[in-house]
Amino acid sequence: MRKLIDLPSQESEKTLDKNEQKTRPAKVKSPVKSKGQTGQNMKHESAEKHVTGKAVYVDDMPEYPNQLHIAVGGSAHAHAKIKSIDLTSVRETLGVVDVITVHDVPGHVDIGPVFSGDPVLVEELCEYIGQPIFAVAADTMEIAKAAVAKAKIEYDVLEPTLTVEKALEDKFFVRPTHQLVRGDAAKALAEAPNRIQGQQHVNGQEHFYLEGQVCSVLPTEDGGMKVYSSTQHPTEVQKLVAEVLDISLNKVQVEIRRMGGGFGGKETQAAPLACIAAIVANKTGRPVKYRMSRTDDMVMTGKRHPFFNTYDVAFDEQGIMMGSNIMVAGNCGNSPDLSDAIVDRAMFHSDNAYYLNNTKVVGHRCKTHTTSNTAYRGFGGPQGVILGELMMDDIARHLGEDPLTIRKRNLYGIKHDHIKVEHGEKKGQVDERNQTHYGQIVENNVLPELIEELETTSEYWKRREEIKQFNANSPFLKKGLSLTPVKFGISFTVQFLNQAGALVHVYTDGSIHLNHGGTEMGQGLFLKVAQVVAEEFQVDLDTIQVSATNTEKVPNTSPTAASSGTDLNGMAARDACLRIKAGMVKFAAEHYGAQEDDISFDNNHLVIAKKLDSKKGEDLSIEEQRVPFADFVQQAYMGRVPLSSTGFYKTPKIHYDRASGQGRPFYYYANGASVSEVLVDTLTGESRLVRTDILHDVGRSLNPAIDKGQIEGAFIQGMGWLTTEELKWNDQGRLLTSGPATYKIPAVGDTPFEFNVNLLEDKPNREETIYRSKAVGEPPFMLGISVWSAIRDAIASLADYKYGAQMDTPATPECVLRSVQATKEHARKAAQEQKA
Ligand code: MTE
Ligand code: HPA
Ligand code: MOS
Repeated sequence: MRKLIDLPSQESEKTLDKNEQKTRPAKVKSPVKSKGQTGQNMKHESAEKHVTGKAVYVDDMPEYPNQLHIAVGGSAHAHAKIKSIDLTSVRETLGVVDVITVHDVPGHVDIGPVFSGDPVLVEELCEYIGQPIFAVAADTMEIAKAAVAKAKIEYDVLEPTLTVEKALEDKFFVRPTHQLVRGDAAKALAEAPNRIQGQQHVNGQEHFYLEGQVCSVLPTEDGGMKVYSSTQHPTEVQKLVAEVLDISLNKVQVEIRRMGGGFGGKETQAAPLACIAAIVANKTGRPVKYRMSRTDDMVMTGKRHPFFNTYDVAFDEQGIMMGSNIMVAGNCGNSPDLSDAIVDRAMFHSDNAYYLNNTKVVGHRCKTHTTSNTAYRGFGGPQGVILGELMMDDIARHLGEDPLTIRKRNLYGIKHDHIKVEHGEKKGQVDERNQTHYGQIVENNVLPELIEELETTSEYWKRREEIKQFNANSPFLKKGLSLTPVKFGISFTVQFLNQAGALVHVYTDGSIHLNHGGTEMGQGLFLKVAQVVAEEFQVDLDTIQVSATNTEKVPNTSPTAASSGTDLNGMAARDACLRIKAGMVKFAAEHYGAQEDDISFDNNHLVIAKKLDSKKGEDLSIEEQRVPFADFVQQAYMGRVPLSSTGFYKTPKIHYDRASGQGRPFYYYANGASVSEVLVDTLTGESRLVRTDILHDVGRSLNPAIDKGQIEGAFIQGMGWLTTEELKWNDQGRLLTSGPATYKIPAVGDTPFEFNVNLLEDKPNREETIYRSKAVGEPPFMLGISVWSAIRDAIASLADYKYGAQMDTPATPECVLRSVQATKEHARKAAQEQKA
């Protein structure tokens, strides 16, 4: 076990405005600290409520006596035109109160979040199986569901496009293709001593949040709507509900206390439910709940984008990349949704942690007649990163080197005497090998050191030898080992989203109320932001009450996504605290006849440390007075000091010009690395994760316990994506894996026998993030790639580590067996050639 990180208060005060400087933290500190400040291991604010069932989710809220329940009827075909709809028997079903179609929508019909393409209900053209056509409102969900089945819909069935290959062939895209270019890839590829090509099909992933999509809406007396929605993006739900109803935003209020997981699946996908429920509520004047069944949720809502990736890479004798042509093609489903930004993120991250010299990265947004794919932890990043890792493994096999050696040589910031490169855009300069293909300089590059530390603590090389020995003596069971790093860009790539607001009240008994624009989905955001407030006022965490995210408290919010929840909302809450403190300090100085500089906050007290003798050169004697925080707040209230404030934050330094593909889209990078050891049965294709070691960089952790939980959870979720979670559609475009019986998420038995997770120590974020912490939500997801790479490593042992057979994801037993066969075939041919 590592020691916990002892966290001093924010030290970047000099950069804050004048007002804020005056409220610097306590100079006179008692040895007793208030409880729960940042840096401490605090349990999730709802941990007990989660396990006792007291936590209230949307579906747990009290029902209204006249509440209606929704079930939606969806398209039976992946691609078809509706010829006729007969809903007579649906309407006549006992207990059915209303049935709506697109003709009942008072306002906007298209609810696409960024680009159009998502009809709230289909009028004519159906583009995936399950696409909503009509909604039934009934006294119970069971009645509504039964009634849906009675609809008679006639279709003109059209040919569907169901694969990325077909979409690429037909140039069938939801958004235009985009590319990032640096130097001359074609020239480098033509001239290099070594050149290989490879490809991979990377499958999608079902979010499988434990709480499915759900909302509950209530018409208000002003013709508006109160919406409880399990959403990561309350403001967008507010906007879309207002638009479909053709009312102003100020008439719609959206609230969410917590989600039972979101994982990106509730960034845009919660809104359609709220819109449908609101249309019904508006029409009937009754409260409406819409909770999807698990099957509907899996069939109707978007998932992680499957990708088809190819590379053509040139490298020197040491395996250092000299040029590359990279293609990432995302299967976006039937509409744009967030796919433009998702494929962009895949393009940004196809380097993973490696310096891509002369390169061309092309990103396609393929359209298929499946549900519209959406945000999922990593937001396209993982699908790009895994291509970078594929290249590393394949280069290593080609040269017969250990993949870790090749990885280390290609890392950003590693200079090689034999390589001097000049790029077109910076002619005359020797390349520092620290600039990404989109122009961002990789600063604060902890990876080389981090990898070295993990290499040592995981005993990589010792185990490498042991594994080679084991494999030499074991004909069928093969072990594999792989270390893969992560470099993940933190910020929304869409600049305006990088802002946040907060609202803090201090009540007269000293208790504090905190609200901000971020949403809680289990990641511990509410706790971390409360810890920030506890830190600022130096009070116990349990004096702070966090309330549900609500568009009437903090408006115009960004989704809680891109791992930036704490960075953004933590800073906004701190800003609110600083404003309140500024007023308090001013008042305290007057009230106690002291200088503002003499006032500080410490261990639930206001401290007045008056300097008694101010003659120059002499030691100052200090008279210290300590007033309990609650007593002081009462005094401040009587002194008519404002005890409430909003706060605001926007991320500095970021800029990006998409047309030229140049800029600094990310405020900073989050890093980590993992080493996984697997055991593969080459007769059955089954594999087992034996041991994983992780070293991850969260800067100065706000809460090491929560951060470790995020790292462990993300790793397991990433591993599930790449090993057992298989989405399968039939040739009609019907999702066959539409429930837990056929779609297998990792269970506790799939976790590694040995799991060593550590935080990188003593590496505060060099950027001025909240107390120098780093975002943690998504980056460790990509640590799961070491499992996939280790399975390939085990298979490569069948060809003396000289061949890297294609292995798509997930690496199910069937998929592993295909790769095993290809490897054996290669080895057989190689042996024959040698004989001849
Ligand atoms: N952790 C839990 N327990 N549940 C979740 O739904 N979502 C992940 C990550 N960790 C998620 C989670 C995703 S996709 C993101 S973007 C971040 O949390 C969002 O929260 P943050 O920005 O506060 O880290
Ligand atoms: N990450 C996650 N969600 C997003 C982003 C992003 O970069 N952009 C828009 N929504
Ligand atoms: Mo996370 S995919 O950015 O919600």
